[in-house]
Amino acid sequence: MRPENLTEMQTAIRHLITAVANANLYSVEHQQIKRLCEASQGCFENLLREQGKLSLLMVEGVLLFDNIPLPPGLHAQKLAQLMERHRINRLILAPGLEPEELEKLVEFWTQPGKSRQGLPECPHLRFETLAESEALPSQATLDESSIYDAAGLGEVKKKGQNRLAEMFEDFGRKKTMHVAGLNEIVSSFIEAFSREVLSLLVLLPIRTMDEYTFTHGLNVCLLNLAQAMNLGIEGQLLHDIGLAALVHDLGKLHIPLEILAKPGKLDEREWGIMHQHPAQGAELLLDTPGMPQLAVITAFEHHLRYDLKGYPAVSAHWNQHLCSQMTTISDIYDALRTTRPYKAAKTAETCAEILREAAGSEIHPQLAGNFLSLLDHSAQKSGLHCF
Ligand SMILES: [Fe+2]
Ligand SMILES: [Fe+2]
Repeated sequence: MRPENLTEMQTAIRHLITAVANANLYSVEHQQIKRLCEASQGCFENLLREQGKLSLLMVEGVLLFDNIPLPPGLHAQKLAQLMERHRINRLILAPGLEPEELEKLVEFWTQPGKSRQGLPECPHLRFETLAESEALPSQATLDESSIYDAAGLGEVKKKGQNRLAEMFEDFGRKKTMHVAGLNEIVSSFIEAFSREVLSLLVLLPIRTMDEYTFTHGLNVCLLNLAQAMNLGIEGQLLHDIGLAALVHDLGKLHIPLEILAKPGKLDEREWGIMHQHPAQGAELLLDTPGMPQLAVITAFEHHLRYDLKGYPAVSAHWNQHLCSQMTTISDIYDALRTTRPYKAAKTAETCAEILREAAGSEIHPQLAGNFLSLLDHSAQKSGLHCF
């Protein structure tokens, strides 16, 4: 077998496993699952053209592709766990395999504990199962890092983080920002995470303040995308909501580091300076060619609060944009999950409690409900094994 074939098989498995992760979160009819199954089928088809029948065999927890062990990797490992859990010893794929057959396989794998010889109407896909006595479903759970990686988050987030850091540094020097670069970050998030983003909500890792600066924008972006998706928002508006979140704190570039990173509570003068960052951010964004107006509005309004008691001061009839209100929720949640020198990070449960209490005063009640339902959903999913 050519080494390229092994790589092609790994890609096929990655698409398939990502589809299973999506299907666990949402219905199997979701477009993203169809796209992933098509992508996976494309890779299998290339291999089938060259090799004829394909076989994936489990031997003592190791997955063999046509008798060659697959290189260790997260997706191969997840596939092995899935096969083990469903008591499948061998998966055989034949020429003519259709994407719809993979969709049926994905659907089957989202039904825990089921075991069958094959799937109805899947003539090009066959299982060989272990005898009941031999089967030992492992029910392995996913830890944080594996969820991140399974969703493609590890790599994309790292890239986004580096990119954002570079852009902010550049902005500090040249006072210009290329929106195209930011758009790329948001698009890669939407593309890579799609619905999987939900499983990450409760699991946003606790970080220190040092990490906070560059991961905060990305996390708030991620959380905004999840909120917006759950509300059925898509297309350009979804993108703009993500972008607005990414740059919502741009005004903090003007705040001296000794205030931003102060290892204690801020005094009155320091708070005064801190309170300027929304207006300053909006100004900077207004001067950035190609920046959507929504990003300017969001930067200005993200500390306003639902009852308008936040900052900057606005008239009593101010109509705060929903994107700003989503960003406030994401912002609060991400801040609560951050460890500071004088304050420990809160657990996801405590964060939910705090948000529940803030609903109707600090944050929009319906948007709070939407966010809490996401937290609840993702907690259940992560507790119930993502794959
Ligand atoms: Fe802020
Ligand atoms: Fe923020």
